[in-house]
Amino acid sequence: MQYPTRFSNLPEYAFPRLRALLDPHPAGGEVLHMSIGEPKHKFPDFVPELLLRYADGFNKYPPNDGAPELRAAIATWLENRFDLKSVDPDKNVVNLNGTREGLFNAALALCPEEKNGQKPVVLLPNPFYQCYMVAAIQAGAEPVFVPAPEDNGFLPDFASVPKDLLERTAIVYMCSPSNPQGAVASKAYWQELIALGETYDFRVFADECYSEIYRDTPPTGALTAAQDMDVDPERVVVFHSLSKRSNLPGLRSGFAAGGANSIAAMKQLRNYTGAPVPLPIQMVSAAVWADEAHVVKNREMYQRKFDISDRILGNLQGYTSPQAGFFLWLKAGDGEAAALKLWKEAGVRVLPGEYLSRPNDPRLGGGNPGAEYFRVALVANEQEIERGLYAIRDTLGDQMGAGT
Ligand SMILES: Cc1ncc(COP(=O)(O)O)c(C=O)c1O
Repeated sequence: MQYPTRFSNLPEYAFPRLRALLDPHPAGGEVLHMSIGEPKHKFPDFVPELLLRYADGFNKYPPNDGAPELRAAIATWLENRFDLKSVDPDKNVVNLNGTREGLFNAALALCPEEKNGQKPVVLLPNPFYQCYMVAAIQAGAEPVFVPAPEDNGFLPDFASVPKDLLERTAIVYMCSPSNPQGAVASKAYWQELIALGETYDFRVFADECYSEIYRDTPPTGALTAAQDMDVDPERVVVFHSLSKRSNLPGLRSGFAAGGANSIAAMKQLRNYTGAPVPLPIQMVSAAVWADEAHVVKNREMYQRKFDISDRILGNLQGYTSPQAGFFLWLKAGDGEAAALKLWKEAGVRVLPGEYLSRPNDPRLGGGNPGAEYFRVALVANEQEIERGLYAIRDTLGDQMGAGT
Protein backbone atom coordinates (compact mmCIF):
# COMPACT_ATOMS: atom_id res chain seq x y z
CA MET A 1 0.00 0.00 0.00
CA GLN A 2 1.36 3.40 -0.93
CA TYR A 3 1.18 6.53 1.20
CA PRO A 4 1.72 10.13 0.15
CA THR A 5 5.19 11.49 0.75
CA ARG A 6 3.93 15.06 1.21
CA PHE A 7 3.67 14.57 4.95
CA SER A 8 6.06 11.71 5.54
CA ASN A 9 8.84 13.84 6.99
CA LEU A 10 6.65 15.83 9.38
CA PRO A 11 7.86 15.65 12.97
CA GLU A 12 5.62 13.87 15.46
CA TYR A 13 2.86 16.27 16.65
CA ALA A 14 3.75 18.23 19.80
CA PHE A 15 1.53 16.39 22.30
CA PRO A 16 2.42 12.75 21.47
CA ARG A 17 6.02 13.97 21.54
CA LEU A 18 5.48 15.43 25.00
CA ARG A 19 3.93 12.18 26.23
CA ALA A 20 6.92 10.23 24.90
CA LEU A 21 9.27 12.61 26.76
CA LEU A 22 7.48 12.69 30.12
CA ASP A 23 5.36 9.58 30.54
CA PRO A 24 8.20 7.07 31.04
CA HIS A 25 9.00 8.98 34.27
CA PRO A 26 6.87 9.24 37.40
CA ALA A 27 5.56 12.72 38.26
CA GLY A 28 7.59 14.37 41.02
CA GLY A 29 4.52 15.95 42.61
CA GLU A 30 0.78 16.43 42.21
CA VAL A 31 0.20 16.52 38.47
CA LEU A 32 -0.52 19.95 36.99
CA HIS A 33 -1.21 20.44 33.28
CA MET A 34 0.23 23.67 31.88
CA SER A 35 1.07 22.35 28.42
CA ILE A 36 -2.22 22.57 26.51
CA GLY A 37 -3.76 25.90 25.53
CA GLU A 38 -7.33 24.85 26.20
CA PRO A 39 -9.35 27.69 27.75
CA LYS A 40 -10.89 26.73 31.09
CA HIS A 41 -12.82 29.84 32.12
CA LYS A 42 -16.59 29.53 32.00
CA PHE A 43 -18.31 30.24 28.68
CA PRO A 44 -21.27 32.69 28.67
CA ASP A 45 -24.26 31.46 30.71
CA PHE A 46 -26.74 31.96 27.89
CA VAL A 47 -25.09 29.40 25.58
CA PRO A 48 -26.88 26.16 26.71
CA GLU A 49 -30.33 27.76 26.70
CA LEU A 50 -29.84 29.20 23.22
CA LEU A 51 -28.52 25.91 21.92
CA LEU A 52 -31.75 24.25 23.04
CA ARG A 53 -33.84 27.04 21.56
CA TYR A 54 -32.26 26.53 18.14
CA ALA A 55 -32.00 22.72 18.35
CA ASP A 56 -34.53 22.22 15.53
CA GLY A 57 -31.81 23.44 13.22
CA PHE A 58 -30.03 20.08 13.63
CA ASN A 59 -32.75 18.85 11.27
CA LYS A 60 -31.28 20.92 8.44
CA TYR A 61 -28.09 20.97 6.44
CA PRO A 62 -26.33 24.11 7.59
CA PRO A 63 -25.75 27.05 5.22
CA ASN A 64 -22.13 26.71 4.14
CA ASP A 65 -21.31 30.39 4.04
CA GLY A 66 -22.95 31.12 7.39
CA ALA A 67 -26.53 32.05 8.31
CA PRO A 68 -27.36 35.72 7.61
CA GLU A 69 -27.78 36.35 11.38
CA LEU A 70 -24.28 35.05 12.04
CA ARG A 71 -22.61 36.95 9.22
CA ALA A 72 -24.37 40.14 10.30
CA ALA A 73 -23.24 39.69 13.93
CA ILE A 74 -19.67 39.06 12.80
CA ALA A 75 -19.63 42.11 10.49
CA THR A 76 -20.94 44.33 13.30
CA TRP A 77 -18.38 42.95 15.75
CA LEU A 78 -15.54 43.51 13.30
CA GLU A 79 -16.61 47.08 12.55
CA ASN A 80 -16.93 47.97 16.23
CA ARG A 81 -13.87 46.19 17.55
CA PHE A 82 -11.49 47.15 14.76
CA ASP A 83 -12.89 50.53 13.71
CA LEU A 84 -13.61 49.32 10.22
CA LYS A 85 -15.65 51.58 7.96
CA SER A 86 -17.63 48.86 6.28
CA VAL A 87 -17.71 45.09 6.37
CA ASP A 88 -20.26 43.55 4.00
CA PRO A 89 -21.65 40.44 5.70
CA ASP A 90 -22.45 38.87 2.31
CA LYS A 91 -19.11 39.52 0.65
CA ASN A 92 -16.38 40.00 3.27
CA VAL A 93 -17.11 37.26 5.82
CA VAL A 94 -17.20 33.47 5.85
CA ASN A 95 -17.92 31.43 8.96
CA LEU A 96 -15.54 28.63 9.91
CA ASN A 97 -15.51 25.47 11.92
CA GLY A 98 -12.89 27.10 14.19
CA THR A 99 -9.94 29.05 12.84
CA ARG A 100 -7.75 25.98 12.38
CA GLU A 101 -9.93 24.69 9.58
CA GLY A 102 -9.96 28.12 7.94
CA LEU A 103 -6.22 28.71 8.29
CA PHE A 104 -5.64 25.40 6.53
CA ASN A 105 -8.27 25.71 3.80
CA ALA A 106 -7.41 29.32 3.01
CA ALA A 107 -4.03 28.19 1.71
CA LEU A 108 -5.73 25.62 -0.54
CA ALA A 109 -8.21 28.19 -1.79
CA LEU A 110 -5.77 31.06 -2.30
CA CYS A 111 -2.23 29.80 -2.93
CA PRO A 112 -1.47 29.81 -6.68
CA GLU A 113 0.29 26.82 -8.27
CA GLU A 114 3.21 29.03 -9.30
CA LYS A 115 4.59 32.40 -8.36
CA ASN A 116 6.68 34.18 -10.99
CA GLY A 117 7.03 30.82 -12.78
CA GLN A 118 8.39 29.00 -9.73
CA LYS A 119 7.14 26.91 -6.80
CA PRO A 120 5.42 29.34 -4.43
CA VAL A 121 6.78 30.08 -0.98
CA VAL A 122 4.71 30.47 2.20
CA LEU A 123 6.48 32.42 4.94
CA LEU A 124 5.74 31.38 8.54
CA PRO A 125 6.78 32.86 11.85
CA ASN A 126 9.04 30.56 13.84
CA PRO A 127 7.88 29.29 16.37
CA PHE A 128 4.36 28.98 15.00
CA TYR A 129 0.96 27.32 15.12
CA GLN A 130 1.68 24.04 13.37
CA CYS A 131 -1.31 24.09 11.06
CA TYR A 132 0.31 26.82 8.91
CA MET A 133 3.14 24.53 7.83
CA VAL A 134 0.91 21.63 6.82
CA ALA A 135 -1.38 24.04 4.96
CA ALA A 136 1.59 25.34 2.97
CA ILE A 137 2.78 21.84 2.08
CA GLN A 138 -0.70 20.68 1.11
CA ALA A 139 -1.13 23.72 -1.13
CA GLY A 140 2.04 22.70 -3.00
CA ALA A 141 4.14 25.56 -1.62
CA GLU A 142 7.50 25.58 0.14
CA PRO A 143 7.17 26.62 3.79
CA VAL A 144 9.98 28.95 4.86
CA PHE A 145 10.44 29.52 8.59
CA VAL A 146 11.28 33.09 9.57
CA PRO A 147 12.69 33.52 13.09
CA ALA A 148 10.76 35.61 15.62
CA PRO A 149 13.62 36.32 18.04
CA GLU A 150 13.60 38.09 21.38
CA ASP A 151 15.72 40.96 20.05
CA ASN A 152 12.97 41.74 17.52
CA GLY A 153 10.24 41.71 20.17
CA PHE A 154 9.49 38.06 19.25
CA LEU A 155 8.18 39.25 15.88
CA PRO A 156 9.44 37.89 12.55
CA ASP A 157 11.35 40.30 10.33
CA PHE A 158 9.80 39.37 7.00
CA ALA A 159 11.57 42.25 5.25
CA SER A 160 14.90 40.50 5.96
CA VAL A 161 13.92 37.51 3.82
CA PRO A 162 16.13 37.33 0.70
CA LYS A 163 14.61 38.96 -2.39
CA ASP A 164 14.51 35.74 -4.44
CA LEU A 165 12.32 34.13 -1.74
CA LEU A 166 10.09 37.20 -1.43
CA GLU A 167 9.56 37.11 -5.19
CA ARG A 168 8.27 33.54 -4.83
CA THR A 169 6.15 34.33 -1.76
CA ALA A 170 2.41 33.88 -2.24
CA ILE A 171 1.26 33.95 1.40
CA VAL A 172 2.64 35.14 4.74
CA TYR A 173 1.07 33.72 7.90
CA MET A 174 1.36 36.12 10.81
CA CYS A 175 -0.05 35.54 14.28
CA SER A 176 -0.78 38.52 16.56
CA PRO A 177 -1.10 38.28 19.49
CA SER A 178 1.25 35.40 18.92
CA ASN A 179 1.19 31.88 20.20
CA PRO A 180 3.50 31.09 21.96
CA GLN A 181 5.19 34.39 22.88
CA GLY A 182 2.20 36.70 23.39
CA ALA A 183 3.86 39.34 21.16
CA VAL A 184 1.63 41.97 19.56
CA ALA A 185 2.20 43.46 16.11
CA SER A 186 1.79 47.27 16.13
CA LYS A 187 -0.08 49.12 13.43
CA ALA A 188 3.28 50.15 11.95
CA TYR A 189 4.41 46.50 11.91
CA TRP A 190 1.26 45.43 10.05
CA GLN A 191 1.57 48.32 7.62
CA GLU A 192 5.18 47.45 6.80
CA LEU A 193 4.20 43.83 6.20
CA ILE A 194 1.22 44.82 4.05
CA ALA A 195 3.44 47.25 2.09
CA LEU A 196 5.93 44.40 1.55
CA GLY A 197 2.97 42.36 0.30
CA GLU A 198 2.14 45.13 -2.18
CA THR A 199 5.75 45.20 -3.42
CA TYR A 200 6.06 41.44 -3.82
CA ASP A 201 2.38 40.67 -4.41
CA PHE A 202 1.70 38.22 -1.58
CA ARG A 203 -1.31 37.82 0.71
CA VAL A 204 -1.16 38.27 4.47
CA PHE A 205 -3.08 35.72 6.54
CA ALA A 206 -3.51 37.35 9.96
CA ASP A 207 -4.28 34.82 12.69
CA GLU A 208 -5.86 37.07 15.34
CA CYS A 209 -7.58 34.43 17.45
CA TYR A 210 -6.00 35.82 20.68
CA SER A 211 -6.93 39.44 19.89
CA GLU A 212 -9.33 39.80 22.84
CA ILE A 213 -6.94 38.61 25.55
CA TYR A 214 -4.69 41.55 26.22
CA ARG A 215 -3.45 43.73 29.08
CA ASP A 216 -4.76 47.26 28.56
CA THR A 217 -4.58 48.23 24.89
CA PRO A 218 -6.57 46.26 22.32
CA PRO A 219 -4.18 44.90 19.67
CA THR A 220 -4.48 46.55 16.25
CA GLY A 221 -5.93 44.27 13.61
CA ALA A 222 -4.45 43.75 10.16
CA LEU A 223 -7.65 44.99 8.49
CA THR A 224 -7.47 48.23 10.47
CA ALA A 225 -3.88 48.71 9.38
CA ALA A 226 -4.77 48.00 5.75
CA GLN A 227 -7.78 50.34 5.82
CA ASP A 228 -5.54 53.38 6.21
CA MET A 229 -3.38 52.38 3.24
CA ASP A 230 -4.15 52.48 -0.45
CA VAL A 231 -3.75 48.73 -1.01
CA ASP A 232 -5.42 45.87 -2.85
CA PRO A 233 -8.44 44.86 -0.74
CA GLU A 234 -7.50 41.21 -1.36
CA ARG A 235 -4.14 41.71 0.38
CA VAL A 236 -5.28 40.69 3.88
CA VAL A 237 -7.44 37.90 5.28
CA VAL A 238 -8.00 37.83 9.06
CA PHE A 239 -9.03 34.84 11.16
CA HIS A 240 -10.98 34.99 14.43
CA SER A 241 -12.48 32.47 16.79
CA LEU A 242 -14.82 32.04 19.74
CA SER A 243 -12.44 29.48 21.23
CA LYS A 244 -10.31 31.92 23.24
CA ARG A 245 -12.47 35.06 23.23
CA SER A 246 -15.47 33.26 24.67
CA ASN A 247 -14.00 30.03 26.13
CA LEU A 248 -15.80 27.88 23.57
CA PRO A 249 -13.08 25.73 22.01
CA GLY A 250 -15.54 22.84 21.72
CA LEU A 251 -18.16 24.87 19.86
CA ARG A 252 -15.89 24.98 16.78
CA SER A 253 -16.85 28.41 15.60
CA GLY A 254 -14.79 31.12 13.97
CA PHE A 255 -14.64 33.19 10.82
CA ALA A 256 -12.40 34.65 8.17
CA ALA A 257 -12.82 38.16 6.78
CA GLY A 258 -11.17 39.89 3.87
CA GLY A 259 -11.55 41.00 0.29
CA ALA A 260 -14.64 39.84 -1.59
CA ASN A 261 -12.69 37.74 -4.12
CA SER A 262 -10.64 35.95 -1.47
CA ILE A 263 -13.73 35.20 0.59
CA ALA A 264 -15.59 34.02 -2.53
CA ALA A 265 -12.75 31.59 -3.31
CA MET A 266 -12.83 30.26 0.26
CA LYS A 267 -16.62 29.82 0.08
CA GLN A 268 -16.32 28.03 -3.23
CA LEU A 269 -13.86 25.50 -1.77
CA ARG A 270 -16.09 25.09 1.29
CA ASN A 271 -19.07 24.35 -0.95
CA TYR A 272 -17.26 21.25 -2.18
CA THR A 273 -15.22 20.11 0.79
CA GLY A 274 -16.02 22.22 3.84
CA ALA A 275 -17.23 21.00 7.21
CA PRO A 276 -20.15 23.40 7.67
CA VAL A 277 -20.95 24.64 11.16
CA PRO A 278 -24.27 23.17 12.40
CA LEU A 279 -27.08 25.73 12.24
CA PRO A 280 -27.86 25.82 16.00
CA ILE A 281 -24.18 26.49 16.62
CA GLN A 282 -24.20 29.28 14.05
CA MET A 283 -27.19 30.88 15.79
CA VAL A 284 -25.57 30.59 19.22
CA SER A 285 -22.35 32.01 17.77
CA ALA A 286 -24.24 35.08 16.49
CA ALA A 287 -25.38 35.80 20.05
CA VAL A 288 -21.89 35.22 21.47
CA TRP A 289 -20.27 37.63 18.99
CA ALA A 290 -22.91 40.23 19.94
CA ASP A 291 -22.09 40.07 23.66
CA GLU A 292 -19.01 41.84 25.04
CA ALA A 293 -19.72 41.65 28.78
CA HIS A 294 -18.37 38.11 29.10
CA VAL A 295 -15.29 39.05 27.06
CA VAL A 296 -14.43 41.86 29.48
CA LYS A 297 -14.70 39.47 32.45
CA ASN A 298 -12.65 36.83 30.69
CA ARG A 299 -9.92 39.35 29.93
CA GLU A 300 -9.83 40.48 33.57
CA MET A 301 -9.25 36.90 34.68
CA TYR A 302 -6.26 36.60 32.35
CA GLN A 303 -4.98 40.00 33.46
CA ARG A 304 -4.87 38.69 37.04
CA LYS A 305 -2.89 35.69 35.79
CA PHE A 306 -0.38 37.97 34.05
CA ASP A 307 0.01 39.81 37.37
CA ILE A 308 0.60 36.53 39.20
CA SER A 309 3.23 35.60 36.61
CA ASP A 310 4.99 38.96 36.92
CA ARG A 311 5.00 38.64 40.70
CA ILE A 312 6.38 35.09 40.83
CA LEU A 313 8.73 35.02 37.83
CA GLY A 314 9.34 38.73 37.23
CA ASN A 315 12.95 38.82 38.39
CA LEU A 316 14.12 35.85 36.34
CA GLN A 317 16.14 36.77 33.26
CA GLY A 318 14.45 34.07 31.22
CA TYR A 319 11.02 35.63 31.84
CA THR A 320 9.29 37.96 29.40
CA SER A 321 5.99 39.39 30.55
CA PRO A 322 3.59 38.63 27.68
CA GLN A 323 1.67 41.50 26.09
CA ALA A 324 -1.33 39.32 25.30
CA GLY A 325 -2.64 35.78 24.77
CA PHE A 326 -2.46 33.22 27.57
CA PHE A 327 0.99 31.68 27.31
CA LEU A 328 4.37 32.30 28.91
CA TRP A 329 7.41 31.70 26.74
CA LEU A 330 10.25 31.06 29.14
CA LYS A 331 13.95 30.76 28.39
CA ALA A 332 15.77 28.04 30.27
CA GLY A 333 18.88 27.03 28.30
CA ASP A 334 17.47 23.73 27.01
CA GLY A 335 13.67 23.79 26.86
CA GLU A 336 13.24 20.04 26.55
CA ALA A 337 15.56 19.28 29.48
CA ALA A 338 13.73 21.94 31.52
CA ALA A 339 10.33 20.38 30.80
CA LEU A 340 11.61 16.97 31.80
CA LYS A 341 13.20 18.27 35.02
CA LEU A 342 10.02 20.13 35.95
CA TRP A 343 7.95 16.98 35.46
CA LYS A 344 10.34 14.71 37.35
CA GLU A 345 10.80 17.09 40.25
CA ALA A 346 7.43 18.84 40.53
CA GLY A 347 4.82 17.01 38.40
CA VAL A 348 4.19 20.11 36.24
CA ARG A 349 3.69 19.54 32.51
CA VAL A 350 4.89 22.26 30.13
CA LEU A 351 5.70 22.11 26.42
CA PRO A 352 9.29 22.31 25.11
CA GLY A 353 9.56 25.25 22.71
CA GLU A 354 11.24 23.10 20.10
CA TYR A 355 7.98 21.19 19.63
CA LEU A 356 6.45 24.44 18.30
CA SER A 357 9.32 25.49 16.06
CA ARG A 358 11.45 24.19 13.21
CA PRO A 359 15.05 24.92 12.25
CA ASN A 360 15.15 28.38 10.68
CA ASP A 361 15.78 28.45 6.99
CA PRO A 362 19.59 28.33 6.47
CA ARG A 363 19.16 31.38 4.20
CA LEU A 364 17.86 33.13 7.33
CA GLY A 365 20.65 32.18 9.67
CA GLY A 366 19.68 28.62 10.71
CA GLY A 367 19.32 27.64 14.36
CA ASN A 368 16.11 26.67 16.12
CA PRO A 369 14.43 29.61 17.89
CA GLY A 370 12.39 27.34 20.16
CA ALA A 371 15.20 25.17 21.48
CA GLU A 372 16.02 27.26 24.55
CA TYR A 373 12.40 27.85 25.57
CA PHE A 374 9.38 26.14 27.03
CA ARG A 375 5.73 27.21 26.86
CA VAL A 376 3.40 27.50 29.84
CA ALA A 377 -0.38 27.79 29.35
CA LEU A 378 -2.10 30.04 31.90
CA VAL A 379 -5.46 28.30 31.63
CA ALA A 380 -5.83 26.58 35.02
CA ASN A 381 -7.36 28.39 38.01
CA GLU A 382 -5.34 31.05 39.83
CA GLN A 383 -4.40 28.79 42.72
CA GLU A 384 -3.04 26.11 40.41
CA ILE A 385 -1.22 28.69 38.34
CA GLU A 386 0.48 30.04 41.46
CA ARG A 387 1.53 26.52 42.43
CA GLY A 388 2.86 25.80 38.93
CA LEU A 389 4.78 29.05 38.65
CA TYR A 390 6.37 28.64 42.09
CA ALA A 391 7.42 25.15 41.01
CA ILE A 392 8.98 26.62 37.86
CA ARG A 393 10.82 29.24 39.89
CA ASP A 394 12.06 26.75 42.47
CA THR A 395 12.99 23.99 40.04
CA LEU A 396 14.37 25.98 37.11
CA GLY A 397 15.20 29.37 38.64
CA ASP A 398 18.98 28.78 38.36
CA GLN A 399 18.90 28.07 34.65
CA MET A 400 16.45 30.92 34.07
CA GLY A 401 18.86 33.46 35.49
CA ALA A 402 17.64 33.88 39.08
CA GLY A 403 19.32 36.68 40.99
CA THR A 404 21.30 37.96 38.02
C1 LIG B 1 -2.33 30.56 17.05
C2 LIG B 1 -3.55 29.72 16.95
N1 LIG B 1 -4.28 29.80 15.84
C3 LIG B 1 -5.39 29.07 15.68
C4 LIG B 1 -5.82 28.20 16.66
C5 LIG B 1 -7.06 27.38 16.41
O1 LIG B 1 -8.12 27.70 17.23
P1 LIG B 1 -9.60 27.29 16.88
O2 LIG B 1 -9.56 26.33 15.72
O3 LIG B 1 -10.12 26.65 18.12
O4 LIG B 1 -10.31 28.55 16.52
C6 LIG B 1 -5.10 28.09 17.85
C7 LIG B 1 -5.53 27.15 18.90
O5 LIG B 1 -4.88 26.80 19.82
C8 LIG B 1 -3.93 28.87 18.00
O6 LIG B 1 -3.18 28.82 19.11
